[in-house]
Amino acid sequence: MNHRRIKLAQDTISRDDIEALVEWLREDHQLTKGPLTQAFEAALAEYVGTKYAIMVNSGSSANLLMASSLLEAGYLRNKKVVVPAVSWITTLSPFIQLGFECFLCDSDPDDLGVDLDHLEELLRRERPALMIVVHILGHPNKMRQIRSLCETYDCLVIEDACEALGSEYDGVKTGALSLAGSFSFYYGHHISTIEGGAIATSDEHLYSTMLSIRSHGWSRDLPESDRIAWRLEHGIDEFREFYSFYYAGYNLRSTDLNAFLGLQQLRKLPEIVQLRSRNFERYRENLPKLWVQRSEGSFVSSFAYGTFVRNRLELARHLRGMGIECRPLVCGSMGRQPFWIRRYGAMNLDVADRVHDYGLYLPNHAALTADDISYITNCVNEVAIPL
Ligand SMILES: Cc1ncc(COP(=O)(O)O)c(C=O)c1O
Repeated sequence: MNHRRIKLAQDTISRDDIEALVEWLREDHQLTKGPLTQAFEAALAEYVGTKYAIMVNSGSSANLLMASSLLEAGYLRNKKVVVPAVSWITTLSPFIQLGFECFLCDSDPDDLGVDLDHLEELLRRERPALMIVVHILGHPNKMRQIRSLCETYDCLVIEDACEALGSEYDGVKTGALSLAGSFSFYYGHHISTIEGGAIATSDEHLYSTMLSIRSHGWSRDLPESDRIAWRLEHGIDEFREFYSFYYAGYNLRSTDLNAFLGLQQLRKLPEIVQLRSRNFERYRENLPKLWVQRSEGSFVSSFAYGTFVRNRLELARHLRGMGIECRPLVCGSMGRQPFWIRRYGAMNLDVADRVHDYGLYLPNHAALTADDISYITNCVNEVAIPL
């Protein structure tokens, strides 16, 4: 009789974090976005290595804010975007909602980022103004080659680093490898603020546009000098400024309560990242017959252990029976999802389809022990048929 329960994810918010939060709540603090949000943003920017970070209420909101701000601030010479077929729904959906023409790119067979040949074909044929890369399960894309291709075809690059907080490529953190990068702090990600997300960037103009669009399109969150400049440019007096909207914005803000948790989580992040990386290595050693994700990244802050098996459903049922949670390799291919098929018809792409049909991922989190991983991998090896 098996009594083990191995969950896919483990909350990084500990009892101690909750106790500290309760203490903080007892005092008289601003709960909406305030000084702690700013402190969290500064600490995150320092960790990622960018000039600025901006906190929002989810990774999805971070992607929406990047997309709409690039558009509103005039960075894009057309409304065409390349999105990896293997991504997340809200990597893609902001662009669909904003009226972009979206081109799905197949995946690299090793790191599951974008396939360079397919990317070049799309860049040459469609001349998109923008592409977004997704570092799948924490594995950095081939950023050097991607940036060089995009420079040749005059295409801006941004990153969805929601699964890759702490990963590095050429010694630079993911999220800081392009114009802007998004993160998610939802339960199960490297750190959690309950719900939450952020964007890292070193581009001042994009940053101030995002500060405005995050909060209705007003200027209140901008530095004083920008606020005055915007006001004067539009002939607005200081009283009218309270409710003046420079962009058709959203409300994507988080709160100081979430930022309080975020500051505590950031302190633990270096250790969490090391433990996740160590777990990845243990999985790799214990599953020698199965496909392993490899990247050129200098450090992989593993989100989960992804692989391919021929008998995925049988393995998933076996693992469930043994008390182990597992999932499909995230969204599979967007070109095979019902919403895409309904809008554009099914799209077949070699590697993305393989991910869709045979990919799955196994748990990785900081509380997983060597013994847990041996148990999981023994159960996998009993049933899995390599692809
Ligand atoms: C690659 C990627 N992008 C975006 C998101 C969305 O993040 P959130 O759940 O915080 O909205 C996720 C969520 O798991 C993700 O994996």
